[in-house]
Amino acid sequence: MDIDAIKTQVDFEIGSVDSVRSLEAFRLKFLGRKGIIAQLTSSIPNLHPQERGAFGQEVNALKNKVSSLITEKQRSIASGSGESRQRTYDIGMPGIAQELGSLHPLTQILNEICGIFKKMGFAVVEGPEIESEYNNFTGLNIPLEHPSRDVFDTFYLKAKNLEPKTQNLLLRSHTSPVQIRVMKKQKPPLAVIVPGRVYRPDAVDASHSFMFHQIEGFMVDRNITFADLKGILEVFAKAVFGEDIKMRFRPHFFPFTEPSAEVDISCIICKGRGCSVCGKKGWLEILGSGMIHPNVFKHVGYDPKKYTGFAFGMGVERIAMLKYGINDIRIFFENDLRFLKQF
Ligand code: DAH
Repeated sequence: MDIDAIKTQVDFEIGSVDSVRSLEAFRLKFLGRKGIIAQLTSSIPNLHPQERGAFGQEVNALKNKVSSLITEKQRSIASGSGESRQRTYDIGMPGIAQELGSLHPLTQILNEICGIFKKMGFAVVEGPEIESEYNNFTGLNIPLEHPSRDVFDTFYLKAKNLEPKTQNLLLRSHTSPVQIRVMKKQKPPLAVIVPGRVYRPDAVDASHSFMFHQIEGFMVDRNITFADLKGILEVFAKAVFGEDIKMRFRPHFFPFTEPSAEVDISCIICKGRGCSVCGKKGWLEILGSGMIHPNVFKHVGYDPKKYTGFAFGMGVERIAMLKYGINDIRIFFENDLRFLKQF
C-alpha cells in the first residue's frame, strides 16, 4: 500500500468530518482493529527485512497524525465551532411568537366593578347558579302570585331525583338569592358584593339573552340609611362612567326592598340633552336598589328593629354596553375575535 496516497486520503476525509458520528466512522476506518493502519502494520512481516524499519516508522507517523487530527476535531465539535453546529442552530433566527389571549370584556368589567366595591370594604361572595325556589323568591318576599315566578320567566328544573319534601330547584333568575344565603350564615355588620350568571327564558334579541350577568350588593348593620346607599352608588357610578356623571333616584317597586328606587345616570352620549340612546330622556337606567324589606330580615332571622340595610342589583352586560357604546348584547357571547380584540 502507498503510504503517501493514504496520507492524502486522510487529509481529504477529515475535511468532511462534521459531527461526532462522522468522526467515529473516520476513526474506525483508519484506527479501528481492522482499519487501514492495522492492515499496514500487519503487512510489515511480509516486507523485505531491510525495508521493515523505515516502513514501520512511516506507519507510526501516520498513526500519530490521524490520532492528533481526531483529537483536534473532537475539540472543535465539542466547543460548537464546528460547521455542523452553525448549520443546525441559527441563533439569529426570529422565534415563533405566541399570541397572548386576554380576559373577556365581561370578565374585565366584572373585575373592575368588584374592585371598586372592594376598595370600599365590600367582600366578594359567589353563590350557585342552581338555586332553591325559596332563596330565589320566597325568602326575598316575592309573593306566590308574582309574575316572575311564572314558568315563562324562570327556568325550573325537573325535580326527578329529589326527595318529596325537597324544594323546587331552578336556575336563579337574579343574584339576589345570595343575600339570603349570606345573611342566614352571618350576622351583621356585613357588606357584600355578588357577581354571577343568571338565567331567564327570554327570546334572544339585541337587548335580551337567556343568560346574562348581574352584580348584587348589600350592606347591613345598625343605622344603615338610604344616604349610605346613595353615597356608595355615587362613588361606583363616577368610577365607572366618569366624574361628570349626574345621578338620580327614581321611586320604584321591588318586593325585597322598601322603599325602592331605580337609579339613572345622565346619558353618557348626549350628556343629558336627549338622543336616540337614552330615548330623548337624557337619562339611562343602570340599576335597581332600596332598603332591605323587614320581611327579608325576618326570613333570615335578623331583628328588623335592630338592623337596617340597603341592597342593589345591576346587569353587567347593560353597564358594559353603555360604557363602551355596544348596541347588541349577543356580541358578548359570539366569541368573534374582531370584537374581543378591542378590549
Ligand atoms: N333582583 C333585581 C332584578 O333582577 C335587581 C335588584 C333590584 C336587586 C333591587 C336588588 C334591589 O338588590 O334592591 O331585577
